[in-house]
Amino acid sequence: MDRIKVIGGSRLEGTIPISGAKNATLPLMIASLLTSGTLTLENVPQLADVVQLGRILGNHGVDLAIAGKRPGQSDGHSQTFRLTAHEIVDTLAPYEMVSRMRASFWVLGPLVARMGEAKVSLPGGCAIGTRPVDLHLDALRALGAEIELEGGYVIANAPSGLTGGRITFPKVSVGATHNALMAATLAKGETIIENAAREPEVGDVAECLVKMGARIEGIGTSTLNIQGVDELKGAVHSVLPDRIETGTYAMAVAATGGDVMLDNARADLLEAALDVLREAGVEITVTNSGIRVSRNGAGLKPINVETQPFPGFPTDLQAQLMALMTIADGTSNIRETIFENRFMHVQELARLGAEIDLDGDLARVSGVRKLHGAQVMATDLRASVSLVIAGLVAEGETVINRVYHLDRGFERIEEKLGRCGAQIERLSS
Ligand code: EPZ
Repeated sequence: MDRIKVIGGSRLEGTIPISGAKNATLPLMIASLLTSGTLTLENVPQLADVVQLGRILGNHGVDLAIAGKRPGQSDGHSQTFRLTAHEIVDTLAPYEMVSRMRASFWVLGPLVARMGEAKVSLPGGCAIGTRPVDLHLDALRALGAEIELEGGYVIANAPSGLTGGRITFPKVSVGATHNALMAATLAKGETIIENAAREPEVGDVAECLVKMGARIEGIGTSTLNIQGVDELKGAVHSVLPDRIETGTYAMAVAATGGDVMLDNARADLLEAALDVLREAGVEITVTNSGIRVSRNGAGLKPINVETQPFPGFPTDLQAQLMALMTIADGTSNIRETIFENRFMHVQELARLGAEIDLDGDLARVSGVRKLHGAQVMATDLRASVSLVIAGLVAEGETVINRVYHLDRGFERIEEKLGRCGAQIERLSS
């Protein structure tokens, strides 16, 4: 199993190209199930999750052709995916597949919408909380699907097709919004989704669905109005930049000090996180080509933050912010309100000398003068990258085990950081 070795202490200087967003790419790939036409996705990141989802979709009959980036090519050559589900050959998504990636559960809505039936295993994914799927199932029921749970599987049936309906989510869910939105595009009549997730990735999927012929109003707001159509067609869509990758590298620069241009990054996708960094004393300059992040000499001020659905501070940047605040001048309060078990990085950060007290959903982080390198364990995707950030500032050598978590969501992280002066290396085994 690969590990990553980091020697802390180098400032980061240079340019980091921001890739297409993982969390938009996955539902966009799934949207290919809705049409027999070819969906062309540009700016697709090279990630383990993307490869895995390609396999899962292949089981359902999606043909995937990849063009663009070749091994050894420099940055800027993103991949282009051509996905064609000419025929759906199987409406079963088995446990072996879905348990490895939670987002693959989102095939449920598109499959029922197009085929009138689906049998999808209950999901797995990062161990960051109980992560139920009740909102997904209630949404599909509101569109007329009959849902049964049997032997760890969700069996959904709508033999005469889905019908439009009103879905009012009691709590914001990104995945349930994706599932409901994709299903509603092919349902008969009007669907209104209230309290929809406003995450930019939901908007990106909605924009793509519109290119495919869907009729959607309210994109970017919490109320989506969808007029169902008989069929969707192929389209060409470019995946929006990854705001979590952007925020992660911004925090790495903030932690180490230095000056880095985050190329292709879009500030409007992560205003809340940029505001927090500014508050901490980091200089952020938004330009036409991206975001420049710098911190030269000045200390880091502690902050108080709670995670919220978009446009609030994202839970997917909570671990990285915590790594940053371990070396701030004072005590920060970081509250996690989205997932109940997303503090697994705390004990690993403590191995590097961080002082963090947990009290329910609140982490009190007392800044220390120095972190010290150690062996640590990656527990989930964002937790792993928080350990990379901590390793970049820790004195001496940090070795991060179970790096496969990182490969799920960060494209060539060691290369991107290495080019900016980080001493980081993958140890293959
Ligand atoms: C998406 O997960 C993201 N995954 C997550 O990113 C992200 O952390 C999360 O949204 C929140 O922003 C992808 O986009 C692939 P939710 P999702 O449904 O859709 C509860 C990463 O690191 N809930 O918005 O699974 C749930 O338990 C990943 O890239 C229900 O109660 O998250 C949680 O408390 C990890 N019932 C809250 O809603 C449901 O049926 C938000 O979850 C569904 C969710």
